[in-house]
Amino acid sequence: MTSVLTRSFDDPSSHTLEAYRAHGGYAAWEKAKGMEPTAIVDEVKAANLRGLGGAGFPTGVKWSFIPKNHAGPVYLVVNADEGEPGTFKDRYLLERDPHALVEGMLIAARAIRSALGFVYVRGEYVEPWHRFSAAVREAYDAGYLGGGFDVVVHRGAGAYICGEETGLISSLEGKKGWPKVKPPFPAIRGAFGQPTIVNNVETLCCVPPIIERGAPWFAGLGTKTQGGTRMYSVSGRVKRPGVYETPVSVTLRQLIFEHAGGVSASGRLKAVVPGGGSAPILTADEIDVTMDVDGLKNAGSMIGSAGVVVMDESVSIPEALMVLARFYAHESCGQCTPCRESTGWIYKMVRRLVEGHGHKDDLDTIVDVAKRGGGTTICAFYDGAVGPYVSYIEKFRPEFEALIPHA
Ligand SMILES: Cc1cc2nc3c(=O)[nH]c(=O)nc-3n(C[C@H](O)[C@H](O)[C@H](O)COP(=O)(O)O)c2cc1C
Repeated sequence: MTSVLTRSFDDPSSHTLEAYRAHGGYAAWEKAKGMEPTAIVDEVKAANLRGLGGAGFPTGVKWSFIPKNHAGPVYLVVNADEGEPGTFKDRYLLERDPHALVEGMLIAARAIRSALGFVYVRGEYVEPWHRFSAAVREAYDAGYLGGGFDVVVHRGAGAYICGEETGLISSLEGKKGWPKVKPPFPAIRGAFGQPTIVNNVETLCCVPPIIERGAPWFAGLGTKTQGGTRMYSVSGRVKRPGVYETPVSVTLRQLIFEHAGGVSASGRLKAVVPGGGSAPILTADEIDVTMDVDGLKNAGSMIGSAGVVVMDESVSIPEALMVLARFYAHESCGQCTPCRESTGWIYKMVRRLVEGHGHKDDLDTIVDVAKRGGGTTICAFYDGAVGPYVSYIEKFRPEFEALIPHA
């Protein structure tokens, strides 16, 4: 394993400042202090680091959108909401390598000239919140924080929509976690109306190694269009579920069969969700694909949050879709009509299919309703739901049809 993000994977005290420093922690921050902010941005651009929260946007490019000479404050917001089904890598970082995030924040804050950062932690993540808060206190005591950059740790209340960056900002501002229309993007008008960079936990944890070892090294670990490694959360029917950090050029087949030990239960692969619940499903024949942003895009899916959910032959695809459809129906914030109405109705229709009361036209209706709503809503929540609705049915239609009486 090429451990880039976590300096001390197996050390039980890896979350402490002492252990982090013993493994070379905060050396990158010392180096960054001697760099001009624009030089840091250029280094991150050249490293080909792409956002690891979901959208895969180039990080250095995003940072460069902060208006020059802005008179008021600029904020750095860390997205630690980690709500995407099948994803648990930020939790791992918050619990085991919290100082990597503090150091990444310090460097990012220097790059964008921010004096205040917020870390929005998923409400259910109690232990990660404790661990990260303790690391923040240690960083204050050691003088890394408080000398020009402060950090506020904010706990969410368990809403998936608050992982969407503008929903997160609304929630942080004390409002209902409703997403906002973009543009303006947060880099222009974000938290409290000020320019704001929102980055995922893992994205920022990549920044110290980039500064320490240089952009060419990081870029060289990945593919042509995406540098580095990333942490894949692998779950479902595999022999060794867990978080695996590998270069983004790894294939899905390698992840399942080499890293996670192969398929458990029936032993025969049926389908894989490659990038968290919102990623279109892949069949067993579609796993020779590199696990970078463009590799998955070319395969008709998306890498998203890199949550890999493996299904073997004993898994019912209609039931898997029903679970996911229930999640979307429950989590839709209700602001946009297509999302609010379709997620509820699609869940009811998939459930009636699974319960054996489906009608002949239900599958076409679901696909039609799903596709019509795509691209019509304020945020990407509904687009994320459309991927599974359509792909599960299109790729496994006979399995759905078999549930319909007299189809
Ligand atoms: C419905 C929805 C939920 C999201 N949830 C998360 C999340 O839990 N964590 C995250 O980092 N990004 C999440 N995102 C993506 C964020 O909007 C944003 O793109 C990301 O935090 C930017 O950070 P990055 O550029 O470092 O990836 C979500 C997006 C959508 C549409």
